[in-house]
Amino acid sequence: MAPSPLPMASPLLPLLMAPVAFAAVLAFIVRPRSVRIPIKGRHVFISGGSSGIGLALARLAATEGARVSILARSAVRLQEARDAIRLATGVDVAIFSADVRDADAVANAVEEAGPVDVLVCNHGVFTPQELEKQDLEEVRFMVEINLMGIFHLIKAALPAMKQRAKATGLPASIAIMSSQAGQVPP
Ligand SMILES: NC(=O)c1ccc[n+]([C@@H]2O[C@H](COP(=O)([O-])OP(=O)(O)OC[C@H]3O[C@@H](n4cnc5c(N)ncnc54)[C@H](OP(=O)(O)O)[C@@H]3O)[C@@H](O)[C@H]2O)c1
Repeated sequence: MAPSPLPMASPLLPLLMAPVAFAAVLAFIVRPRSVRIPIKGRHVFISGGSSGIGLALARLAATEGARVSILARSAVRLQEARDAIRLATGVDVAIFSADVRDADAVANAVEEAGPVDVLVCNHGVFTPQELEKQDLEEVRFMVEINLMGIFHLIKAALPAMKQRAKATGLPASIAIMSSQAGQVPP
């Protein structure tokens, strides 16, 4: 019996393999990798640091030896947060009263706080309501705080963060707090 002929490889195969291999190498190079950001002795600036998650992060960062600044609107709640952190850790955090919607006020606070190593944009407001029932002013309020407030903070902090990272050789970091609420269709 005659042997069956070997299947013919498509002449396009070598042509296809090159871009696929290139894409695979590229994907490997740019894959997300976790970077450890040291905070001991470094400046951690947390917006919305007077309550909830921000306050817990501020306390943790203070415990780990960071110099901590917190920003929020209510001066009273900021002072209460500072007292609570001092009581829990023995560390004094710096407090800044500003509304993140006010770019100038944010810039002044960041300048006064001094160059930042780790910026945590944690502030946030949320009105749980279906879009068709929600007033546009309410939507604008959330966008101004949750979105523009983040731009104001980053724009204010970034130049000095970059310089400091270059000078110290240590990685700087910006974290932005999100919410699953942003992923739910209206
Ligand atoms: N808690 C949750 O289950 C949950 C779930 C998903 C995502 N998140 C997100 O995590 C972040 C923190 O949540 P949380 O529950 O810990 O919040 P929270 O306890 O309500 O605290 C919000 C913080 O943001 C500050 N803030 C609000 N509006 C501000 C403004 N215009 N300018 C400056 N600061 C402002 C508040 O202080 P003042 O009011 O004094 O300004 C407070 O310090 C938010 O971004 C939130 O969307 C929370």
